[in-house]
Amino acid sequence: MGKEFLIAGNWKMYKNADQSRAFILELAKTFAPVTGLTVAVFPPFTALAGLRGLDARIKIGAQNMFYEEKGAFTGEISPVMLQGLVDYVLLGHSERREIFKESDDDVNKKVRAALQFDLLPVLCVGETLQEREAGKTMAKIKNQLEKAARGLENSEMGKITVAYEPIWAIGTGRNATPGQAQEVHHFIKGVWREMAPGQKLKILYGGSVKPENSLELLAQDDISGVLVGGASLNVEQFSAIIHSCAQLLNK
Ligand code: PGA
Repeated sequence: MGKEFLIAGNWKMYKNADQSRAFILELAKTFAPVTGLTVAVFPPFTALAGLRGLDARIKIGAQNMFYEEKGAFTGEISPVMLQGLVDYVLLGHSERREIFKESDDDVNKKVRAALQFDLLPVLCVGETLQEREAGKTMAKIKNQLEKAARGLENSEMGKITVAYEPIWAIGTGRNATPGQAQEVHHFIKGVWREMAPGQKLKILYGGSVKPENSLELLAQDDISGVLVGGASLNVEQFSAIIHSCAQLLNK
């Protein structure tokens, strides 16, 4: 079907360095490489250095970073520090936006910094339940996309992966239906086409993705992967999601 899938696991504030290494070694035993399928995990910062080169089939991402290269920013991690350790960096996750008060402007600066230092941004967008019920989903998403991509060159836009994560579906066990997700993904594609003519876009769905719903979500036309939280902490479950994707590719 010609899609390039990305199955990504966001570990949030779980797993220390040893647990992260052990997980990757275990996970690597459970799947064979499949053309068209990339697997990535996003462990905490403290685990990243120990994961370098551990298994070439499993890409590594960071969950966040600051946008400055260096300086007096106690407690922050710069894009330069991530170079050589990760391929991807998750930016604008709703937990960062809500709990740590990251603004659209911060997210924009981070996206620009990531691209400047050759890290591939996975840009998260999504609406609250209140916004969905008020019919404001598309407006919210469009606004987040436009603000995050402000000032980027067309070619830079081609390096971004978007993750659509309805906030009401994160960690709640209540996923968007495949139809609801597809509708927003289709919309995002249209917005992106206008903002970055000619650039392809990979859009992941995130929010209570589990082995039970991954196949149906991945089968939607405009869904090119999933960003998995809770279920990515368990080798069996995450592996089952990877297998559902492989199953789709082998059809
Ligand atoms: P969840 O988290 O799969 O536990 O809902 C997804 C995310 O926050 O990326």
